[in-house]
Amino acid sequence: MSGDGLQAALREAVGAAELLSGAVIEPRYHTDLRGQPRPRPAFVVRPASTDEVAAVLRAAQRFATPVTTQGGRTGVVGGADAEAHGIVLSLERMNRILDLDPASMTMTLEAGCILQTAQEQAESQGLLLPLDLGARGSATVGGNIATNAGGVRVLRWGMMRDMVLGLEAVLADGTILSGLRKIIKDNAGYDLKQLLIGSEGTLGVVTKAVLRLRPMPTSTQTALVAVPRFAHAITLLRRLEGALAGTLSSFEVMWDDFYTLTTTVNAAKQSAPLPPGAPFYVLAEAMGAEPERDAARFESVLADALADGLGTDAVIAQSEAERQRLWAVREDLNAPMARLWPLFAFDVSVPVAEMEAFVDEAKACVGIIFPDSRFVTYGHIGDGNLHLMVGVGRADADAHHAVDTAIFKTVRHFNGSISAEHGIGTAKRDYIGYSRTPAELALMKTIKTAMDPAGILNPGKLLPA
Ligand code: LAC
Ligand code: ZN
Repeated sequence: MSGDGLQAALREAVGAAELLSGAVIEPRYHTDLRGQPRPRPAFVVRPASTDEVAAVLRAAQRFATPVTTQGGRTGVVGGADAEAHGIVLSLERMNRILDLDPASMTMTLEAGCILQTAQEQAESQGLLLPLDLGARGSATVGGNIATNAGGVRVLRWGMMRDMVLGLEAVLADGTILSGLRKIIKDNAGYDLKQLLIGSEGTLGVVTKAVLRLRPMPTSTQTALVAVPRFAHAITLLRRLEGALAGTLSSFEVMWDDFYTLTTTVNAAKQSAPLPPGAPFYVLAEAMGAEPERDAARFESVLADALADGLGTDAVIAQSEAERQRLWAVREDLNAPMARLWPLFAFDVSVPVAEMEAFVDEAKACVGIIFPDSRFVTYGHIGDGNLHLMVGVGRADADAHHAVDTAIFKTVRHFNGSISAEHGIGTAKRDYIGYSRTPAELALMKTIKTAMDPAGILNPGKLLPA
């Protein structure tokens, strides 16, 4: 391999100004969300067009060099970590919104567009891009697609997979796969875009997408409810879903350990909206189209639920500022996580009805090995996605492996998934067998080999060696 030859080919692909190498490479390309150093790549390229992306991949293929695509670098499983001798392909310059079509209810955009920018652009036309998550201000739509992002509204509008109508991607050999269609129904053979969605940069580089938009709701009702039992949270979920006529868009549950931690650590910024001490806290949000009637109905459904004992206390946001304060308890996690460090983070799916039993069993399994372990538990319970932060006072590889194994065995026991929304990356790669059968894994490897025979696309991610 000739480094000089590769450098020249990359320079030709993107221009000298957008090719970085050596000490010029800024730390943000090799630093994770927590500010920890990750491998520094040999090159960073910042293409401005799909043709330039294709030229980069052709160069990488010719010189057998790994390529890791990066968006907003808000992932938490190492999926965007560079290879030390490899190329980082940053899509930050491909951030344009190309078309907003209110009649078709679609938005066509480049993959490097920040999610919040896309949301705001849609909103300016009275339209909703439903994907929403805590990292909205820095995550990119391309990264959301590559990881099939979920977030806080999956319950109503689905995941990224459900919002992508069309896709343009570049394959490992530089082939441009153009499928920027604005249609919802399309059964013309294999759905290739769905293969690329959630493939974490291992099958191709997503460069553009057509996203499905929805009418922008004109009313939002948000409540925080203290709930005495987990079973009551499920009953409350089903009741809100039914009584609010399909307008329930978020149903987040925070266990007491989570609520106490975030309201204590963030206390300097905000006081707890409800006193701590309840076993569970539900953050529920509905979005509708009739502001006055929606608010009255939301209040009365909630009042009935409290009268029936499903909740012991509740607060309904009376303004956007109050709504933001309620959400901050759920989303403002940096300081609380730093306080808990070292911790191991999990993002699992289990059937909602078995979630409490799952948490009990997971705690018991980890507790056998680490009697002083500490769990912090929360999640998008409306769609069965549970987040666990587990602290055992150590962060060494042996402890990490022991905790991972205990949690993932429990996930398998409940027939769940080891990754509900964050993806596999490197962090969960060696455990994918807890969620996929040998036959499923073999087919995944067959697809990977067919689409990327030289293994240049994000090697070491998603699939075990
Ligand atoms: C959340 C991220 C961790 O839901 O997925 O807070
Ligand atoms: Zn989440």
